[in-house]
Amino acid sequence: MLYQTINNARVPVLGFGTWHLRGDSGRDAVRYAIDVGYRSIDTASRYENEVEVGQAIAASGLKRSDLFVATKIRYLELEPDKIEARMRESLDRLGLDYVDLIMPHWPSPTFPIGDVMKALRAVQEKGWARQVGMSNFPVAVMREAITAFGAPLFGNQVEYHPYLDQSAVMAELHKTGMLLTACIPLARGAIEGDPVLTAIGAKYSKTVAQITLRWLIQQRGVLAIPKSGQHARIKANFEIFDFALEPGEMARIGALRGGKRLVNPDWAPVVWDQPWAEPAAIV
Ligand SMILES: NC(=O)c1ccc[n+]([C@@H]2O[C@H](COP(=O)([O-])OP(=O)(O)OC[C@H]3O[C@@H](n4cnc5c(N)ncnc54)[C@H](OP(=O)(O)O)[C@@H]3O)[C@@H](O)[C@H]2O)c1
Repeated sequence: MLYQTINNARVPVLGFGTWHLRGDSGRDAVRYAIDVGYRSIDTASRYENEVEVGQAIAASGLKRSDLFVATKIRYLELEPDKIEARMRESLDRLGLDYVDLIMPHWPSPTFPIGDVMKALRAVQEKGWARQVGMSNFPVAVMREAITAFGAPLFGNQVEYHPYLDQSAVMAELHKTGMLLTACIPLARGAIEGDPVLTAIGAKYSKTVAQITLRWLIQQRGVLAIPKSGQHARIKANFEIFDFALEPGEMARIGALRGGKRLVNPDWAPVVWDQPWAEPAAIV
């Protein structure tokens, strides 16, 4: 495993995503991921699986300090005066005393981001969250959040894969040394059959998924959190630490970037920091 350091914490560059992992099979997948070696788990109140994630963590027998656990508060539930209660509910479902990272899942279209971030700071000061981050925040909202928070933040979790340019968000994060967590890192399978990824994979005897994950975590300040419910893929996605891409290969994959945004719900920010999306958003 490789790590990034942020605000004195060591964070595994590869974590385990848990969207859609629920019930017995979900709990089994998280437990298996921990057995394989994942030490960072990403969940959210919206995923309705914090109980299963917590049970898998408990069953692993690992020390709490050996795991990095992140969760998110749903955008509809970000009333500043209820954030403390939301955090308590998440901790109770997880069966944990603290999470390593809490994020607003999306910037709220209703509640002022400054008030949300101040409420999250209070949660951090209570010791319930070691770090506070952002998720799906465009640059303008990030700047507002950073100013309001008034202390070092973790970073921003955003959709990032070879087909989506996130250079604007990344440049903003680099200014303060924050991290970009790549969610949807495998583009939910859209990378399958890509000729560039396939050709590079042939050289290293790796799949396109492994090449994609390696490309992500080899970038400055980038973490990746792939999800799978299948043991073979959970294990394969972890087998990316026995090779390294060359600079030319990193650049070839980087050149695939474009405007393929897979998650853009009704409540998403109107204008994303992404050149391909802006003309459509302005229209
Ligand atoms: N902050 C946010 O708003 C946000 C949004 C989306 C996601 N996330 C987080 O990011 C995590 C990852 O995103 P995601 O789950 O949407 O997408 P993803 O990780 O890009 O892709 C997951 C999909 O790819 C398949 N897959 C996994 N490994 C594979 C492999 N080696 N080869 C081929 N297919 C493979 C999985 O199917 P099987 O399960 O059948 O293997 C699943 O259908 C989520 O689980 C969640 O924790 C956060």
